[in-house]
Amino acid sequence: MSQPSAETTSTPTAGTIRDLAACLDCGSRLGEGPACPQCGRAYPFRGGILEAIGPLAGRNRTVAAFYDGPGWRRFRPWEQGFLVLQGGVRRARMQILRDLLEVDRPDVMGLEVGIGDGENLRFLPPGWTVHGVDIARTRLEACIARNPGMAGHLAWAEAERLPFEDAAFDVCWTIGGFTYFRDHEAALREMRRVTRPGGAVVVADEIPGLHRAGLGHLIGFPKFDAWWLGLLGLDREFVEMALGFDVDLVGLTQRVWPGAERHRIWHGLGYCLINRGGS
Ligand SMILES: C[S@@+](CC[C@H](N)C(=O)[O-])C[C@H]1O[C@@H](n2cnc3c(N)ncnc32)[C@H](O)[C@@H]1O
Repeated sequence: MSQPSAETTSTPTAGTIRDLAACLDCGSRLGEGPACPQCGRAYPFRGGILEAIGPLAGRNRTVAAFYDGPGWRRFRPWEQGFLVLQGGVRRARMQILRDLLEVDRPDVMGLEVGIGDGENLRFLPPGWTVHGVDIARTRLEACIARNPGMAGHLAWAEAERLPFEDAAFDVCWTIGGFTYFRDHEAALREMRRVTRPGGAVVVADEIPGLHRAGLGHLIGFPKFDAWWLGLLGLDREFVEMALGFDVDLVGLTQRVWPGAERHRIWHGLGYCLINRGGS
């Protein structure tokens, strides 16, 4: 089992994301050109980021607008505070990342879906080559600004349509965004598809409905919760989505990943799903 480094940033060393990329429309290997050699679909590569995204719909549109806009910058300190309360940022993140580290070789090829600014990179072993995708382009730019070695290893893409060949990665994970993905089934299937058989796929987030555990909901006045969530910096559209949405994690896991393990993290305020490659 590889051990995580003491908070060093994992710097990719081998290949770029284009070596692993496949066309979203026809599945052909992309290679170095600006378009799919088979069907001609365009895949611009700008600022070290492969662009493999179409028009966003549903929750993905709301979520991308939030993470690309000022709402996320306002809310960020509260997220950091939440993790500190879980025993510190490192401890809170290692509750999830440790499930990925049981790989029996050092030169791991990993994919983080919804990589954001790359906060998890410093907790991963330095020998790993990490790639990332996100629907918010500004987060990918921020990831490169903070971790210059990530240029060439990121794709602007949706979890529900990953622009990679089957079994391209040894491990794959998503932390902190899954609950509001537009299509959970598609995302779970895609993450499994791009990970080799036997490689772990890990999904972790706050428990669905956490936002509805506020005082306003308890006293039958949900607008109060919408009000204070807005004060924390969240966009109105994001708050409406969060308060009006639920996901049946148990049913979803049984349907799509029947062999997956599920456990609580963050003192019961979060969940972690682990698919070790059997389904
Ligand atoms: C709370 S941030 C977490 C970032 C990082 N994973 C971390 O642990 O710090 C959630 C990220 O997931 C991304 N995201 C949300 N829905 C997504 C989707 N459907 N496909 C790809 N990325 C998504 C967001 O844009 C955002 O950057």
